[in-house]
Amino acid sequence: MSIKRVGVLGLGLMGSGIAQITAANAGLAVIALDSTEASLRKGIDSIRKSLSIMAGKAIAKGTKDKVTAEADVEKAMGLITPTTDRFALKGCDLVIEAAPEDWEFKRKLYQDLRSFVRSDAVLASNTSGLLIADLSREFGDPTRCLGMHYFNPVPLMSLCEVITTPTLSPRHLDSCIALIKAQGKTPVLCKDSPGFIVNRLLVPFLAQAIALHDRGAATTGDIDTAMKLGCGHPMGPLQLADYVGLDTTLFILQNWSKAYPGEANFAVPAGLKAKVGSGMLGRKSGKGYYHWEGDKAVKPVE
Ligand code: CAA
Repeated sequence: MSIKRVGVLGLGLMGSGIAQITAANAGLAVIALDSTEASLRKGIDSIRKSLSIMAGKAIAKGTKDKVTAEADVEKAMGLITPTTDRFALKGCDLVIEAAPEDWEFKRKLYQDLRSFVRSDAVLASNTSGLLIADLSREFGDPTRCLGMHYFNPVPLMSLCEVITTPTLSPRHLDSCIALIKAQGKTPVLCKDSPGFIVNRLLVPFLAQAIALHDRGAATTGDIDTAMKLGCGHPMGPLQLADYVGLDTTLFILQNWSKAYPGEANFAVPAGLKAKVGSGMLGRKSGKGYYHWEGDKAVKPVE
């Protein structure tokens, strides 16, 4: 694999998971960039917490002894260099962008990126709602731009969607696929298109569950129990919408409904707008369709 050093731009929920699997599973050096020391500290703390949970599980299962498991955590942490200096990305073969899903913010970021990544570095976006063609146009070199879309929680979800464009260099595609496999994930390929594979199917499903709730057809708890017990989903759709973030779900639907006016699958349910408008964003704000304590949905908000 030609990728030896990876930059992760944005150490939020997704970026910290990507940094974690790159260091712990692929064993590669990671430059983790964020704009403030506080956001870096939060990201680094969440990586250590997740690695410690996994080490604890390995010890309990007997697949690792305590000394090895703890040494592996320290080894992975030692591979991650947190920084607020964007020029530190100059040493990276690949930069994975996991910045907030805000078009104006990303537009400016991609216009500036060429000045602080190497001229042969590959640029991958973890965007879930924007098109790679739009981002690569701002970056200015579409031969080295692609999507690498991971799923939340990154350390546990096995998939990475690889988003390709007709201009992407096959050599760069191959090295990113090799990296994804080394990270312990399964790559699937999708052409640049709204929602790629998972969100194109998942987000309309979440919107339908919210609309069902808006109509008063069933309670939050019963909608979720129905899909868990009736279809074997690990989380019901309203809990999952909270987990993903109601603001993120709304952002994706609003973008698509603007781009595809009249497409019923992308209609924004009134209840979603109301929750986001009143600051109920789901897990990240502690309240959405559920009351949350950390990662746990405690009880439905009815
Ligand atoms: N790191 C390490 N371990 C973690 C972890 C993390 N970040 N998060 C949870 N765990 C561990 C827990 O400690 C727990 O361990 P034990 O079994 O030893 O207790 C285990 O994972 C299971 O967690 P929970 O008991 O809390 O809950 P669960 O059994 O429901 O599993 C889940 C949690 C894996 C998240 C599961 O509910 C699930 O798969 N949910 C669906 C998630 C999903 O669909 N994600 C995709 C969202 S869409 C997206 O991300 C794309 C987008 O662009 C919007």
